[in-house]
Amino acid sequence: MDVNDVELVMSAVDPKQYPTTGYPEIGFLGRSNVGKSSLTNVLINRKDYAHTSGQPGKTQTLNFYRVNDALYFVDVPGYGYAKVSKSEREKWAQMIETYLTQREQLRGVVNLIDGRHAPSDYDIQMRDWLDYYGIPVLYVATKVDKIPKSKRKKQEQILRKGLELEDDEPLVMFSAKTKVGADQVWDWIEQQIKS
Ligand code: GTP
Ligand code: MG
Repeated sequence: MDVNDVELVMSAVDPKQYPTTGYPEIGFLGRSNVGKSSLTNVLINRKDYAHTSGQPGKTQTLNFYRVNDALYFVDVPGYGYAKVSKSEREKWAQMIETYLTQREQLRGVVNLIDGRHAPSDYDIQMRDWLDYYGIPVLYVATKVDKIPKSKRKKQEQILRKGLELEDDEPLVMFSAKTKVGADQVWDWIEQQIKS
């Protein structure tokens, strides 16, 4: 898709605040600092439109980015690493569960995991949960520029195995730095939003 128009239309915590335009939506899910904003910026071809930061846990709302007059990208915040109280966690879980299970326009979720490590318990929990709800998912391993080229295939296997991905479940090895994998992510998104 040639993206020529992007707008952050809403930062929502409550369903009443979701956009009402009716365009299909793709959610971007993954823990804080995994690279959600960076992936979004690559896909829309802007340098720092969705703000990236070294400060985990900045995004605490569902951010709806309108892409052309075609769809929304929805940045779904993940946990930060620390400093999140139990009640904050519960509020967060409620917010994303409501969005992911009740949003009719949601066509699929891009689930980001850090490509450099084995999947964390958090990643595996998210996988089980998305599976349970039957939401179409594209797994994206981020920051693969930090893995030596000679080790990427092996690391891809480790990730697939750790997440227990079936052969027909796609995993894209992605880097916001080199943009490797960006076309594959767009291909998947375009498949999902075709009506
Ligand atoms: P929150 O908004 O806090 O949930 O984080 P996020 O998931 O949006 O992560 P963000 O895109 O802000 O990236 C976090 C940090 O990782 C930033 O310093 C990015 O520059 C860096 N980063 C993201 N993607 C890549 C990548 O592919 N390669 C490298 N080398 N660094 C990356
Ligand atoms: Mg972000």
